[in-house]
Amino acid sequence: MAAMVIDGKEAAAQVLDTVKTATAELIRTTGITPGIAVIIVGEDPASQAYVRSKGRRAEECGFRSVTHRLGADTAQADLLRLVGELNGDDAIHAILVQLPLPGHIDEGEVIQAIAPHKDVDGFSFVNVGKLATGQTDTAFVPCTPAGSMVLLRRALAKTDYSGLNAVVIGRSNIVGKPMANLLLAANATVTIAHSRTRDLPALARSADILVAAVGRPQMVRRDWIKPGACVIDVGINRVPAPELGEGKSRIVGDVAFDECAEIAGAITPVPGGVGLMTVAMLMANTLASACRAAGVSAPRY
Ligand code: GUN
Repeated sequence: MAAMVIDGKEAAAQVLDTVKTATAELIRTTGITPGIAVIIVGEDPASQAYVRSKGRRAEECGFRSVTHRLGADTAQADLLRLVGELNGDDAIHAILVQLPLPGHIDEGEVIQAIAPHKDVDGFSFVNVGKLATGQTDTAFVPCTPAGSMVLLRRALAKTDYSGLNAVVIGRSNIVGKPMANLLLAANATVTIAHSRTRDLPALARSADILVAAVGRPQMVRRDWIKPGACVIDVGINRVPAPELGEGKSRIVGDVAFDECAEIAGAITPVPGGVGLMTVAMLMANTLASACRAAGVSAPRY
């Protein structure tokens, strides 16, 4: 294996350490404790697990953490009422509505109901617009792309990607589009590829920075990788693993790790890569929100 494996566990631990220290300092100097409210609607097991880990991490960071668990049949009006109450609650600096929501609820309407200054997911029009226009000092940047940028910076040991070609595979609002904007802000030459892109392997081979965020297990193969490229795998896919026993499964990324690691210069593993950064950056955004409310500057990562 030639590639350097980018350690998401270590990077996430460093972000969380910084958050914990800065939180203690914020509480000591201003009396303000960062508060986060997470809302989950329904019983989806993966979402439940994500929400539990967010609550645990928030408590470890010294935050006030509240989880609202609502039934799958919750009316949209009731959900909107709860969001409205949290918008007006001064003890809450961060609101996250876990996605996906049940089909009878208009996800867009709920996301846009969150006050932009508490929208730590960075999904509201205000935060999307700020990121797209380069106002990252006051925007909330979506957590997965923000964490991916931290990993990229560690791997490349620089923050300016002038002259580098970046290809982002996937055009979701949660990852692909904000990731492309962050890379553009870092002076990379950015292409967004998606299911309608012609000759994706050839395009991927032009990338010095390749980001895979499509949700298709091990789609990116060895011949898609430019020698020495930095590969960021955002995929978290559960696949059957009969080799581990009957009915067992395992998690793989969007990148065929072993074969791509022979060609890449640096690569994130799955698990142990980007996934761990998402929750860490949620904590960073929550602290940033409380710092803004207190009028003090937030740490950088
Ligand atoms: N579901 C999967 N990823 C995310 C995320 O980043 N934020 C929210 N709110 N829901 C999600």
